[in-house]
Amino acid sequence: MEKQQENNPKGGVRMDTKEYYDQIAKDYDNISYSGKGGITTGNEFRFRIVKDILYGLPKGKILDAGCGTGKMLVYLKENGYEASGCDFSEGMIAETRKKVGHSARLETTSLDDLSAFRDGEFDIILALGVFPYITQRSTQEASYREIWRTLRAGGTLITTHENELFDLFTLNKYTLRFFKENFGIAEKLAGSLLTNPEKPINKDKQKSGRDFIETIPENPLTYPQRLHGFENKDILYYSYHILPPLLMDDGARQLSSQIEASEGFDRHSLQAMFKCSAFISIAMKVV
Ligand SMILES: C[S@@+](CC[C@H](N)C(=O)[O-])C[C@H]1O[C@@H](n2cnc3c(N)ncnc32)[C@H](O)[C@@H]1O
Repeated sequence: MEKQQENNPKGGVRMDTKEYYDQIAKDYDNISYSGKGGITTGNEFRFRIVKDILYGLPKGKILDAGCGTGKMLVYLKENGYEASGCDFSEGMIAETRKKVGHSARLETTSLDDLSAFRDGEFDIILALGVFPYITQRSTQEASYREIWRTLRAGGTLITTHENELFDLFTLNKYTLRFFKENFGIAEKLAGSLLTNPEKPINKDKQKSGRDFIETIPENPLTYPQRLHGFENKDILYYSYHILPPLLMDDGARQLSSQIEASEGFDRHSLQAMFKCSAFISIAMKVV
């Protein structure tokens, strides 16, 4: 299992992923779905879009990998799916258990070790808001291998990712990282072109999850070629921002939410590709 930086939760630096989720497990639904934690969240929209995607697929046996506190599992159980969940955080699994009791099989395990599950056991595997936290490429690869093994031929994999192209639009330290990592432009030079190369900092109103905990974005233009053997079926953008995050006051935030909620934008458009901070990938195991 991957170990990230050891850090102090309150000190404004990033924490180890598992430790973080163990600590926030009891508050996760509040923080992550209501926005009450002050973090911009597209999770509610993600939940809705994934439900629509599932609606278009034959009902089958599902694994919710990185199930968190079990919001999706509750939905799946209520709607007649045979659903199982796994997560490497005991705290998150305990919260899920409170909601689903023993109606769903739950395993405390990391995505790169799904040995609790059989080859080809699932028709659909979900990993919602999980891959951004697997920051080592080798652990990501092992996770995709395990998903491949436990998914049946023709099965569907639904994952979500931070959108690296959004960083071009944030005009902050993540834009700096984009230019450094993709074009090798020196930090100092790229930073001098930005007004806020240090921002957001932990105390900023505009902070997002990745300011607390290390995450890794994906470039949606290259992701389909790096799908570890899965065949790309679709990419849908979500978590729409009408303005770069540093300029987002409460009004802009509300407007973004309204646009997202009204389904009033094309999730495949060029605008969405740059103005949405996350995307959903739908892929198939073709053998
Ligand atoms: C942002 S939460 C998403 C939870 C849930 N899927 C949802 O949509 O609400 C990320 C979850 O992934 C879990 N996680 C992160 N990395 C993991 C890994 N390598 N293996 C298993 N679970 C992991 C965390 O413990 C946490 O519960």
